[in-house]
Amino acid sequence: MSGQTESGTEFKSVYDADSLADFDPATQLGEPGSYPYTRGVYPTMYTQRPWTMRQYAGFGTATESNARYKELIANGTMGLSVAFDLPTQMGHDSDAPLSAGEVGKVGVAIDSIEDMRILFDGIDLGEVSTSMTINAPAAVLLLLYQLVAEEQGTPAARLTGTIQNDVLKEYIARGTYIFPPEPSLRLISDIFAYCKAEIPRWNTISISGYHMAEAGATPAEEIAFTLADGIAYVQAAIDAGLAVDDFAPRLSFFFVSRTSILEEVAKFRAARRIWAKIMTERFGAKNPKSQMLRFHTQTAGVQLTAQQPEVNMVRVAVQALAAVLGGTQSLHTNSFDEAIALPTTKSARLALRTQQVIAYESDIAKTVDPFAGSYVVESLTDDVEAQAWQLIERVDELGGAVKAIEQGFQKNEIETSAYRIAQEIDSGERVVVGVNRYTMEEEDRYEPLRVDPAIGEQQAARLATLRAGRDDAAVKAALVAVQEAARGSDNVLYPMKEALRLSATVGEVCNALREVWGVYEPNDAF
Ligand code: 3HC
Repeated sequence: MSGQTESGTEFKSVYDADSLADFDPATQLGEPGSYPYTRGVYPTMYTQRPWTMRQYAGFGTATESNARYKELIANGTMGLSVAFDLPTQMGHDSDAPLSAGEVGKVGVAIDSIEDMRILFDGIDLGEVSTSMTINAPAAVLLLLYQLVAEEQGTPAARLTGTIQNDVLKEYIARGTYIFPPEPSLRLISDIFAYCKAEIPRWNTISISGYHMAEAGATPAEEIAFTLADGIAYVQAAIDAGLAVDDFAPRLSFFFVSRTSILEEVAKFRAARRIWAKIMTERFGAKNPKSQMLRFHTQTAGVQLTAQQPEVNMVRVAVQALAAVLGGTQSLHTNSFDEAIALPTTKSARLALRTQQVIAYESDIAKTVDPFAGSYVVESLTDDVEAQAWQLIERVDELGGAVKAIEQGFQKNEIETSAYRIAQEIDSGERVVVGVNRYTMEEEDRYEPLRVDPAIGEQQAARLATLRAGRDDAAVKAALVAVQEAARGSDNVLYPMKEALRLSATVGEVCNALREVWGVYEPNDAF
């Protein structure tokens, strides 16, 4: 049963002291909470505080999602994670023609401050940390969050959370981009500066490899392309005049966790080591917080199967173990029915319970970095690190992440890996229990959760009422101010906040920016 790692190196059937002949614990491991952070970003890790159990959720209207968040909080979730519907992610209102059929489907529909108020009604934003999976319109949703928190009486300085805000991986793997790279990077740098001044505890970006991994990237490709995107964001912010230690402590990351525990643990440890080197050697970061790679993990959705879906519970538990053994800061465990439909209340609760069993019944949170010194894990950490550096260097040679994206480099590499995996599954070389081995003639019936198709009309009616009741002239003037800032070099977030306060919608603000910045058109190679 030997074979290759997911990143393509040969597994040895036995690892021993010879495997670590060149291994130097002082420089390659260090202490937990110290450079190069291989053993984790905090000296005490989970012995002091477990990772944040943060379940990604949201569907239908703000009212329905608000109920799901309260349910999750009542069940012991430690942080919120908002899923937005596709129109919101693309910066379109629910009543825009392009939104037809998509409102409330893959997440919650948020059109204006009114929806945001309902989404967090009865939830103290001064107490909870909230992640929002929003990219091109990240500034808009962050400002709506700030406005609602301020209405609740919570000053922005107390707010904690994360916006995904990672547009480069949208071009590579996920698809919800709006503007071309140059204004996108400018907007991201504006967000870094705004948060430093106004919302200092906010994690301003979640530089994500998860979606590349779901598209087929190997573990080495996943961390290499993610860290290369990280390099591009840091460089853009420095070029915009920011000092590295002013914004880098609030960069965060997001990776997948697969069932291949050993290599995944190695991947997380290698990623921390590489980022620490990049930040010190390439960017001269002095603040230890700028050198630490803090990350969220989601268990691998792509490994879940529609066949015999209960088997997914086992997969998720294994994947979650890998994330925790790798030192994640925050974790989403998928629900077993996610390969079929939106999770039901019960399956969402069970996913959370999986984390609670790992945290409180198992003993792996009782000591820091349990795999340190393991022959196999240290060897694999070195292997993944070496493979990732090679890819980062390739991206550098192509002129950096943006230029490489324009040449289709990352996407082609990922597609090649995805093709290899598909072939291995087809041939049976890669075992997928219930799909190409241990199949059943007849599957049990499953009743999925369905989103009410009338939600689109309800949102459109609410938008019409909102527009009728607001001061339209003031909204128009505020949107013009947003456009003026976008044309010049003033931070666009300040006029944007004013427009949103006056009930400008998500779509109106994004359309105002589309008029100035245009929209991204992928080239042929892409
Ligand atoms: N000792 C001392 N302090 C500790 C500690 C320890 N052992 N452990 C934690 N702490 C402190 C931290 O320093 C921090 O304090 P600070 O804010 O003052 O610095 C506080 O406790 C909270 O700890 P973390 O920062 O480690 O944990 P958070 O949960 O707050 O943040 C994160 C984690 C990764 C940095 C953050 O960016 C995050 O939460 N990300 C989540 C991203 C997410 O959920 N994304 C969902 C994506 S879904 C998606 O993309 C959709 C689809 O397409 C798949």
